[in-house]
Amino acid sequence: MPTEKTDKTLEIIHYPHPALRHKSKPIRRVDAELHQIVRQMFSRMYDARGIGLAANQVHLPLRLFVVNLTAEPDEGEEHVFINPVITLPRGSEEMEEGCLSLPELYGQVRRPKQIRLLAYNLRGQEVRLDLEGMLARVVQHETDHLDGVLFPDRMDVAAREELDYELRDLERTFQQRRQQGEIPDNAGIARELSDWEARYC
Ligand code: CO
Repeated sequence: MPTEKTDKTLEIIHYPHPALRHKSKPIRRVDAELHQIVRQMFSRMYDARGIGLAANQVHLPLRLFVVNLTAEPDEGEEHVFINPVITLPRGSEEMEEGCLSLPELYGQVRRPKQIRLLAYNLRGQEVRLDLEGMLARVVQHETDHLDGVLFPDRMDVAAREELDYELRDLERTFQQRRQQGEIPDNAGIARELSDWEARYC
């Protein structure tokens, strides 16, 4: 059973939580607890009606993300990608993106249309997939998360400015929650992240 602490650890965090800017290091071991973390990530993602979730969105500095394009727990295919690397970008396509860490925000983002993904699954098997369409898009968005990059960073400056008001609103909410003691200070967050890294990276 997850401990109360683990459970709280896996809440989805919102911009501008500093863990969203953390560059995750590769995972070097997979154990029973990591399997449990992945199950909880799927469950958080479904609760939030999302199709992808990166580990640092539940403030774990681990290089993995989960995807289910249907957003439904009993439908579609569940993907777990560990230590993903994107190669062979081809073409270019603009699509609207959103993010569970930037609630209510949407923007047009230009990215390669096709990519090759190299990663590992939870069984430690190497995965090599040539992707296009929605899965290629989600994989690029989630891999960006693992490098501390959020979708507005990829937008045209002019389009991004239209999100400024909402971004400032999220910043205010974050500061309020922190003043109420719901979010640790930066040193506390950094300590928590480095504890996880010591165990898995
Ligand atoms: Co996102």
